[in-house]
Order: sequence, then C-alpha cells, then structure tokens
Amino acid sequence: MTASPEQRILLVIGGGIAAYKTLDLTRHLRERGFFVRAVMTEAAQHFVTKLAVESLTGNRVFDDLFALTEDSSMGHIELSRDADLLVVAPATADILAKMAHGLAGDLASTLLLATDKKILAAPAMNLRMWLHPATQRNADILQKDGVAFVGPEDGEMACGEYGPGRMSEPLAILAAIEQVLATDTRIPLPTDLSGHQEPRGALAGRRVLVTSGPTQEPIDPVRYIANRSSGKQGHAIAAAAAAAGADVVLVSGPVALADPLGGRTIHVKTAREMLRQVEAALPVDIFIGVAAVADWRAAETAPEKIKKDPKQPLCLTLVENPDILAAMGRRSKDRPALVVGFAAESEQLIENAQAKLMVKNCDMIVANDVSKTSGVLGGENNKVLILTKKGKESWPWMTKQEVARRLVARLGTMLAETGR
Ligand code: PMT
Repeated sequence: MTASPEQRILLVIGGGIAAYKTLDLTRHLRERGFFVRAVMTEAAQHFVTKLAVESLTGNRVFDDLFALTEDSSMGHIELSRDADLLVVAPATADILAKMAHGLAGDLASTLLLATDKKILAAPAMNLRMWLHPATQRNADILQKDGVAFVGPEDGEMACGEYGPGRMSEPLAILAAIEQVLATDTRIPLPTDLSGHQEPRGALAGRRVLVTSGPTQEPIDPVRYIANRSSGKQGHAIAAAAAAAGADVVLVSGPVALADPLGGRTIHVKTAREMLRQVEAALPVDIFIGVAAVADWRAAETAPEKIKKDPKQPLCLTLVENPDILAAMGRRSKDRPALVVGFAAESEQLIENAQAKLMVKNCDMIVANDVSKTSGVLGGENNKVLILTKKGKESWPWMTKQEVARRLVARLGTMLAETGR
C-alpha cells in the first residue's frame, strides 16, 4: 500500500532504548510515501540524535516548546494539527502518564494535548513499569479517550528481563498506522462535557465475532495442513467493525499481521481450537466467518517426525473438521442475530455460494473468486458477490478495507431491520 501524497505523520519520539527503532519506522514510512515530521523529547536525544532523525525524515526536528513560539512559520497548535496522525514511539511510562492526565510541560506533551487528530501509541518500557497499576490505569484512560495502541510485545528487555514491554517492530507499527488512517482520524469531541462518550457508528454497542486467517492442522510435530489465506480480509472486517463502534472479538488462525486495533484478538491454530474460542465468545449480535478453515485434518497426529520410507508411499487418513459457520447458523437459543459466511470458490461462484447460504443456514454469504488468476487469496483487493435470502448484489473490485467498511455498514442496516 502506498500512502496518498497528503498523508502526514507527526512522530513523537520518547526517551527509551527503543527510540532507535523509530529510525527504521521513518524509513518505511517515507518509502510508502508518507510525509514525516518528528518531535523529540529531551530524553529521546540521549538515545538517537536529532541529526539522524532529521536526515531520515528530511525535515527539521522540533524539541523546544519556547523556540516554537519564536518560529513564525509554525506554532504548537499548527504543528499538532498539520498531521493526519500523531504516532508516539516509544511511548514511555512518562509520556503515557502525561497524556492520561493532560500535562503539557514540554513540547511533546503540549502537542499531544493540543491535537484534534487521532493518536497511535507504541508503548515501550521495562515490564514491571508496564504492568504497574499506575501505567495500566493510564493506558486504560487513554484507550477510553480514543488513543489507539500497538503493542507492547512480549520479549527480552534491554535490561535482561523477559515479559511484556518491548516496543512493536517497525513493520507492525506501520501496519497499525495504515489501519488507523483507514478509519476515522479525528478524536470526536464529547458532546457531554462530563467526558462520558457513548460509542458511535453503525454497530455502536453491538458485539461482533469474526474469524480470520487459515487454520493449521498438524500431521506430526513439524508438518501441518494449511492454506494461503493471509487474514487480510478478516482482519480488515474486524477493524472496520471496531471503528463502527462494535465490541469485537477476532479469532484468528496463524497470520503475519498485527492484531487489529480496538478489539480483542484470540490466536488459535486448529479448526477445533477456533470452534472452542468462537463458542466461548458467545453471545454476539453478528458472527462473520472469514477464516479459511481447513476442511480436513489428519486422523492421527504422529508423536514423532514421520520418516521417509522409499519402499512405500505415505498414506494420510484425513477426517472432516467441524464446520464452525454451520454450527453458528444452526444454534438454537443463542444463535447470533446475523450469521455471515464467506464462500471461497474457484468455479461456479453463484451456485456454490447459494448452496452454502442454505445448507449452513446463513443470513448472508459473501462470495469471492479464489482461482489462481484472481489474486484474492493473500492479495490486497477483492471483488465480492453478496447473497442474502432476498437476492444478490455484485460489488466492483476494491481494497479489502473498502469491502470491510461497506460490509459493516450493510450489516448495521440489516441488524437494525431485524429489530433485535
Ligand atoms: O485471508 P485473505 O488472504 O485476505 O483471503 C480472504 C479469503 C479469500 C480467505 C476470504 O475472503 C474467504 O473467502 N474466506 C472463506 C474461506 C473458506 O474457507 O471458504 P469456504 O467456501 O471453504 O467455506 C465457506 C464458509 O464456511 C466460510 O465462511 C468458512 O469460514 C466456513 N467454514 C468452512 C469450513 C469449516 N470447517 N468451518 C467453517 O466455518
């Protein structure tokens, strides 16, 4: 994906060892066509130099609140609002605390308070600092204020301890930036000045459960059966539902994507694990089965790596996996108000999709062509056919994010029509 030319990032670099990763992040952002301006805290300059950041952003670095007022070209309000998105990386415990409590003692915190744009924070700190109730409270306040988070990840710390607190890798932060920019980029002003904000959007207050990605069915300790699903379509739908105000649970098979922002992601490997987690997330208003669940698994998983035998071919016995979508469609007492399936077809798209709508008792099937030439499986774009019991509608080629946004809007309307 390449950024549209006007997309502007204000990168707020905090003082932590992970600051060095922002150099790589800046390089990736520039390669994608983003305009990047950076602000550094005083502490950040102990870890990376202004010169390095200026060289990579191609722009002057700002670090002094009072120098800004002398600079007629840009005051702190313009600086904070000139960007489409503010990215705080590394978001240290100190910056998070200042943001949560509205402190504005230096340039970075002042800009973060003065902005009307969305903020993405990539926390990085020692695991005990991250797990401290004060930091957890601050992160909670910020999430409620609409700040998006990417990470922190589990891993080895610079101090030698192991646990949550490592800043996400630059490519994961980049994916999160693209995701946040694909949704609303403004922080809505509360209408109720007590600070209480009701979630807004087509799915405000609704619970949405999405499956995404492939499943991996083990053959032995090192081999498995899987497919080429990347999770891009399912993750985009989970992100769009969260952006539309829904409380989202995403159950994902193994993918190389960052967890979507604004919901809860549960990671699974096999179809049976996926079914267990889907059932555990009930009740929900909408279930959307986007995962390419393996239809079969090995009848038995070999306890040791299977050895080659030149004298006889290896025969695997496969048994059918549970059908998660059909199980949701057929539930009686807690069936979701809307059960939506996908149909991945390489031939006879309409006929096969129609059959799935009926057999799996769905309210909607989103059919797409996964033949080799379409590029849908693993690709960025999709062309879908929407089938309901009332009729069918063909959508043109568009990005998977756009499919997700339109689908979420459509489901919001359908759900309202059910009267539930
Ligand atoms: O992940 P991407 O690279 O972005 O690609 C997106 C996609 C092509 C995988 C996606 O758009 C898609 O079509 N997902 C459905 C894949 C699939 O397994 O289709 P199917 O026609 O085999 O299954 C029909 C439906 O039954 C699907 O909703 C599937 O999730 C569900 N199913 C299938 C088998 C099974 N055991 N359990 C199920 O729930």
